[in-house]
Amino acid sequence: MIVVSQKRTARRALCAVLERYHEKMDSVATPAPAPNAVITLEKQYLLQNYSRYPLLLERGKGCYLYDTSGKRYLDLVAGIGVNALGHAHPRLMKVVRGQAARMIHCSNLYYHEYQGPLAERIAKASGLDRVFFCNSGTEAVEGALKMVRSHGRKIGAAKFETVALLDSFHGRTFGALSITGQENYRRDFEPMLPGARFTRRNDIAALEQAVGPNTAGIVLELVQGEGGIHPLDPAFVRKARELADRHDALLVFDETQCGVGRPGTYFSYQLNDPVVMPDVTVAAKPLACGIPLGFVACTEKTAATIGPGMHGTTFGGGPLACRVALEFFDILDTLLPNITQTGSYFRMRLTELAKKHSFIKEIRGVGLMIGMELEFSGKQTVLDAMAEGLLINCTHDKVLRALPPYILTEQDVDRAIRVLDKVLKKAKPAS
Ligand SMILES: Cc1ncc(COP(=O)(O)O)c(C=O)c1O
Repeated sequence: MIVVSQKRTARRALCAVLERYHEKMDSVATPAPAPNAVITLEKQYLLQNYSRYPLLLERGKGCYLYDTSGKRYLDLVAGIGVNALGHAHPRLMKVVRGQAARMIHCSNLYYHEYQGPLAERIAKASGLDRVFFCNSGTEAVEGALKMVRSHGRKIGAAKFETVALLDSFHGRTFGALSITGQENYRRDFEPMLPGARFTRRNDIAALEQAVGPNTAGIVLELVQGEGGIHPLDPAFVRKARELADRHDALLVFDETQCGVGRPGTYFSYQLNDPVVMPDVTVAAKPLACGIPLGFVACTEKTAATIGPGMHGTTFGGGPLACRVALEFFDILDTLLPNITQTGSYFRMRLTELAKKHSFIKEIRGVGLMIGMELEFSGKQTVLDAMAEGLLINCTHDKVLRALPPYILTEQDVDRAIRVLDKVLKKAKPAS
């Protein structure tokens, strides 16, 4: 007993020392490397698979990022929907430091104290029963696809088809890519896994045609993200549930981009009334606010598709990531109303902007997942906004997309609108 309490005191003292050390280090300005040197080195040694913007970022605070020259940017990209609490959130910094000093990684051969509580948290938030942890969205989709395959196989050898949507995006690994309904991501890697069928979003008749006795799973993003911020019609989602039940297939919701608080509810499917429940839901991006973590959550019945030894991971669900995600969930509970309010304020301000600029075709989205479709490519507008201190990105060529931190304020929105108005004034539709 005495030994335990001595150890605890020593641990606390160590954490306090580390805390002071890091506070000191934060305040010491380290000389930044020259942007050109960084770019040249990357060009020489990195696989050239990313088309990066010419911006060397150094640090962040709240909703703002700073480049190496000290210039400040309002960050509406947030790591493509990852930095849900912005940058350098004090509570997250504290738990990261504390947990890093205790245990960063622990094999899934053993227990640690955070996977169970986090799984309980996710089960309660999602209305599902069991959880598997992984590291990313694409891995979570792979886990769900293994459930789909295992489920179908138990029924019959021909039941392995997966129905997904055109314009969907589910990740870059082979299974996830095989059900991604955008040919440009798949083309160079054909042939894909067999059994993927694609149908148009919100087209109930087409969905009825696509789903049949050989369908083992239907996979939907309730709000298509990379496809251009398109929410699915509730009636379409209800039909998917009905068809999955009729043909004994699993209904999978990919909430990697549109879930975990972003819609103003825990998950996008909870926005619909009545709520249509999935058999499986997957998520990742904001879950540990930048520390890689994803999950597959499912019903008790679906959990039986994966038995001992059938799936696993070295890194997934480590103590550092799970500890941070637990802290995030505590904070998220208080932030959900802000996501809804600031999200509607943002869409309202963008709708006003659309009245001024006739080439803005549509404003779409839920909560703080917002798309503004232009009549022309948004690439130049993204660069012009960046020059004006605003980071926003463009998806599906013409859709300017905001996936900002959940702590965004109306003042931040006003600032973003001022910049967008300025850069859109000089934007010209390509003739
Ligand atoms: C809906 C959806 N699913 C899966 C993924 C893949 O996630 P990750 O990049 O973490 O592998 C993404 C990424 O953008 C996504 O938006």
